[in-house]
Amino acid sequence: MKTAIITGASTGLGLEFVRQLADVFPEVECYWLIARRADRLAQVAESLPDKQVECLALDLCDTMSFVTLQDKLTAERPDVALLINNAGCGYLGNIGETDTASQTRMIDLNLRALTAVTNMVVPFMGPGSCILNVSSIASFCPNPRMTVYSSTKAFVSSFTVGISEELKPKGITATAVCPGPMETEFIHVGGIKGQSKMFEMLPYCDQVKVAGGALRAARAGRTIYTPKLFYKFYRVLAKVTPVKLMVKFAKT
Ligand SMILES: NC(=O)c1ccc[n+]([C@@H]2O[C@H](COP(=O)([O-])OP(=O)(O)OC[C@H]3O[C@@H](n4cnc5c(N)ncnc54)[C@H](OP(=O)(O)O)[C@@H]3O)[C@@H](O)[C@H]2O)c1
Repeated sequence: MKTAIITGASTGLGLEFVRQLADVFPEVECYWLIARRADRLAQVAESLPDKQVECLALDLCDTMSFVTLQDKLTAERPDVALLINNAGCGYLGNIGETDTASQTRMIDLNLRALTAVTNMVVPFMGPGSCILNVSSIASFCPNPRMTVYSSTKAFVSSFTVGISEELKPKGITATAVCPGPMETEFIHVGGIKGQSKMFEMLPYCDQVKVAGGALRAARAGRTIYTPKLFYKFYRVLAKVTPVKLMVKFAKT
């Protein structure tokens, strides 16, 4: 049975991926949904009566969650057609002025967990299967006041390009989606809402459109997908402009 594994499936963009997955990957019959809030995952599962859904209430910042996932993979040997590494967090604040737990949580979730989950799941993927990693426009240039977050997302984009080449002989594709700001819990959890002129100025992306576009980009085997013309232009600008100049205008 074809399986999809989605991290951060309880709300926001992850929930949109779950809602739209069947439109783009109709062959997937089994969903493994991962997030911390079991009650929210159970609600998502109820909305999918035609699918076999397994809810894994895991805190991916806790390395014990890797043991739980590895044990389940080893025991059940799923045929994974799609892995979506979506769980992520981003906290606003200068280095040295914010609590260390928040700064390191971004590394634990956006980077360590994404790497661990990918490494554990790839052995259960075959030719034609897809990895979709959620990066950000923050990966294009360091963003002062969110330097750790933008650095983790630079890793996600770079990691995706690297593994897409590594996994070619196995017939597995890897795609990074790089959205701009979205009106989700993210901006509240990270203390961004109302505290960043940049976030107030930038055009917002609609998570419904981002999820649909990203799923189609993954199906097509694209390596990087940037929703919205405005941010496609930003990506090119960040590529051709010296980073020391660009960073002056990229403050969050
Ligand atoms: N919103 C934006 O402006 C924006 C812009 C660009 C990129 N992104 C990226 O988009 C992705 C999705 O973000 P979103 O906007 O949908 O944010 P969100 O609404 O805050 O959702 C984050 C998801 O990750 C899960 N999660 C958080 N911490 C976790 C942990 N320790 N272990 C397991 N799951 C955890 C959350 O579920 P629980 O709380 O139930 O664990 C939730 O399902 C992230 O990678 C983010 O960096 C967001």
